[in-house]
Amino acid sequence: MTSPYGMLAELTYDCPLHCPYCSNPLRMGDYRDELTTAEWQRVIGEGQDLGILQLHLSGGEPLQRRDVVDIVRFGSGLGLYTNLITSGLGLSRRRAEQLREAGLDHVQLSIQAHEATASDRIAGTRSFDRKVAAAHLIKELGWPLTVNTVLHRLNIDRIAETIALAEDLGADRVELANTQYYGWALRNRAALLPSRAQVDHAEEVVRAARTRLKGQVEIIYVLPDYYSRYPKPCMGGWGSHQLTVVPNGDVLPCPAAHVLPLPHPNVRTEALARIWSDSPIFQAFRGTGWMPEPCRSCPRREVDFGGCRCQAYLLTGDPARTDPVCILSPDHEIVTEAVRAANEQPREKVLTPRPHPRDIT
Ligand code: SF4
Ligand code: FES
Repeated sequence: MTSPYGMLAELTYDCPLHCPYCSNPLRMGDYRDELTTAEWQRVIGEGQDLGILQLHLSGGEPLQRRDVVDIVRFGSGLGLYTNLITSGLGLSRRRAEQLREAGLDHVQLSIQAHEATASDRIAGTRSFDRKVAAAHLIKELGWPLTVNTVLHRLNIDRIAETIALAEDLGADRVELANTQYYGWALRNRAALLPSRAQVDHAEEVVRAARTRLKGQVEIIYVLPDYYSRYPKPCMGGWGSHQLTVVPNGDVLPCPAAHVLPLPHPNVRTEALARIWSDSPIFQAFRGTGWMPEPCRSCPRREVDFGGCRCQAYLLTGDPARTDPVCILSPDHEIVTEAVRAANEQPREKVLTPRPHPRDIT
């Protein structure tokens, strides 16, 4: 068993946006009793003892936590690379300067689309102008900037304009991530899944942009796995490189694993090192021993690790099945059916926005 190199600290599920593809839990009741500042600092310290090098602060919106500066300062003081994953809402000049002084290394800013009307519609609130202001502030204070846009049926046709916007904002890196269908995204899949023609067009635009911007802006394109032959190597392998600590202190192998029917270990009652090495949820899908056929005898089993456990569970009810995205999966029909529906016209376009956490049980 290796040591994790990154901790994703989901500080709070509170968030001013209402993105219809949010991967936060559908039920929020269990997560309201958030870790205190001292508890987060203890957990981050335990993470460093365990070998983590990177601390990613996310949510929800991490800037909703009043103590985010103290948490950054603590992580940075331990020598960790600190990354803030934010919508930009709540990044006032004062807060940004405090974060800079606390040692924050990098900011990843989400933008929902290439212009205000489309972006605000997806975010479910007026936010585009504040995001642009946050991007300027991030650059002014000298941080490297990653602009992240989640791609789906409603914005993927404007991917060229999205890249142009990121370029205008001075982004060092653009992350164009096709929606992963967990949480609210799975609920909204019929309205979010793009067509094959849309995906092909996006890939062409990304190829051209990579050539044009080589050496200036790094473009990360996360493939739409419903259109891939084989699944993604989710989390680089279960319980091998990353761990996620959620607002109430539960520790999970990935941010979506709260759905799995396995007990959630918690840093309030167990040491992080023990959770990483011994807890049933981390042990369940480590390595290849747990795999069913066709993965067990597949030459790709150490390439993609049988795909995504959360996706397998959400689509089949069994987290130990081959990810249905794989063309060799006996459940692949579930994915081809969703893709077939996405390529038929006309389409249902009704979206359920993620409600505010206080309105979710
Ligand atoms: Fe990956 Fe399993 Fe499919 Fe092989 S059968 S490609 S290991 S998911
Ligand atoms: Fe949980 Fe893929 S999101 S394993």
